[in-house]
Amino acid sequence: VQALIQQALDRVSTTPTLWNSLRRLVEAGFHGERLAIARELRPWSGDQRRILDLGCGTGEFAGEFAADGYVGIDLSLTYLRDAAVRHQRSFLAAGGDALPLRGESFDAALIVGVLHHLPDQLAAAAMAEVRRVLKPGASVLIMEDIPPPAGENPAGHLMHALDRGGFIRSEQQYRAVFGDGFQLVRSYPIRSGICDYAVYLLRRLP
Ligand SMILES: C[S@@+](CC[C@H](N)C(=O)[O-])C[C@H]1O[C@@H](n2cnc3c(N)ncnc32)[C@H](O)[C@@H]1O
Repeated sequence: VQALIQQALDRVSTTPTLWNSLRRLVEAGFHGERLAIARELRPWSGDQRRILDLGCGTGEFAGEFAADGYVGIDLSLTYLRDAAVRHQRSFLAAGGDALPLRGESFDAALIVGVLHHLPDQLAAAAMAEVRRVLKPGASVLIMEDIPPPAGENPAGHLMHALDRGGFIRSEQQYRAVFGDGFQLVRSYPIRSGICDYAVYLLRRLP
């Protein structure tokens, strides 16, 4: 049954509108992620800072930031096309490990639900690229799927079992992927709808 559901999800994920409707439903409008963005990256709207949204997908969080300063990057042209229709923002097609961006040109980065899809080497290469394009002292807000605490949130356990990311990590494993170029400022779990996430706030070291 799990394989069948997974096949159906794979098919749905190739249609951005359907995929977004499903995600919005199970994540209650991405309430948890939006709160974390507001908590960790505000005040932001309307100011001049530049934000990189790595693995932006359909640009679900683009609207949280001022139009001028936002750049979303993703590998999927299908998702980027959908993002560009919905938001007047800059979207670029590129891999996280080769960002077509100038060094030290961004004030912050947002990475939501991306690193748990990438093997260690690729995730570390993407983090090295993020470090390169960020100014010293810049913030990085990362949210990645984790299993719900034991005995809690049965629907979340089902979602977690169906999650298509193959690289769910512990905090210690994430620290290794982030590398020495960042300081971990704080980390904590959040729940968004029925999905559990680990939140990591990093600071780019000089
Ligand atoms: C689960 S989606 C999350 C999208 C968005 N951050 C959100 O939360 O709505 C993961 C995204 O990462 C993108 N992605 C996967 N590997 C990537 C890579 N190496 N470089 C850039 N984007 C990548 C996928 O195309 C997909 O859009």
